[in-house]
Amino acid sequence: SRSIDLAVVPGDGIGKEVVAQGLKVLAAVLPQDVKLETREYDLGAQRWHRTGETLPDAELESLKGHDAILLGAIGDPSVPSGVLERGLLLKLRFAFDHFVNLRPSKLFPNTATPLAGRPDIDFVVVREGTEGPYTGNGGSLRTGTEHEVATEVSLNTAYGVERVVRDAYARAAARPRKKLTLVHKNNVLVYAGHMWKNIFDRVGQEYPEVTTDYLHVDAATIFFVTQPERFDVIVTDNLFGDILTDLAAAVTGGIGLAASGNINPTGAFPSMFEPVHGSAPDIAGTGKADPTATILSVALLLRHLGYEAEAVRIEDAVAADLAERTAGTVRTTDEIGDALAVRVAS
Ligand code: IPM
Ligand code: MN
Repeated sequence: SRSIDLAVVPGDGIGKEVVAQGLKVLAAVLPQDVKLETREYDLGAQRWHRTGETLPDAELESLKGHDAILLGAIGDPSVPSGVLERGLLLKLRFAFDHFVNLRPSKLFPNTATPLAGRPDIDFVVVREGTEGPYTGNGGSLRTGTEHEVATEVSLNTAYGVERVVRDAYARAAARPRKKLTLVHKNNVLVYAGHMWKNIFDRVGQEYPEVTTDYLHVDAATIFFVTQPERFDVIVTDNLFGDILTDLAAAVTGGIGLAASGNINPTGAFPSMFEPVHGSAPDIAGTGKADPTATILSVALLLRHLGYEAEAVRIEDAVAADLAERTAGTVRTTDEIGDALAVRVAS
């Protein structure tokens, strides 16, 4: 019989609230014969305050044994900026070699967006997840003085770029429009930018059916707003992808709907699924958080584990739920989770 052994990291702020709804919908959508086991990991700001730990080796080791990880959000104003982001979230992405950070954007019906009514916004950003300026390859000299010098060097390897570019081509080839856009900044970042473009062009020879395009990242931000329908699959660097996917979320219905998967396509390590949004400490505990992004992340998780029909059921339920959301009616985190759980079960 089938089973899913899931690690759950609720984390901080609204992370705990939205993850509870994600689990609710997961339990509702799974067929009877699939055994769902979950283990919750107490990681995040509270743990750090209590013990000073972000992600101890024993827990990292234990997380490795699960089929997948569902994560809420990491970060809290009571913890110095970067401690949990680097020591927990990025540590997981790096340790489990999540080189594909998959962030789909779709214009759902009835959502608050400057682009409401525009047709066919349906693209996916393949954000590199293990390199670029995120590697912590930098330093500071004469820190805190007026002569301080700080570097934050972007690390790009041919190996790392080729594997994410290949993944993006494969995803583009599997979609109806078969279009792949590389986003970088090779008019200024002439070393990494040219390496990305050369690898992109070389791998592209193996995918003659995929139409390719290249955009500088600044120009891409314009097209995200003025012509988002031109995008199908986008492949880009870790930091550009971080920024572009917040913009993508904002223009397609808000950060409350944006899902992501930190994927290791080789299966060597568990992949990790999380909403794009953060811990939103300002609304934590108020029941205002929209759990939809986490629920859509559960759909990505299910798809990754081979439960395609269940993933589609969640996505269809979200589309139907959004179509019926009426302006002015405010539902709590729990109410949205309940409504979606009912929809996917029926
Ligand atoms: C995201 C977040 C993270 C990132 C932070 C919290 C480290 O912004 O998942 O997009 O920069 O990747
Ligand atoms: Mn981000």
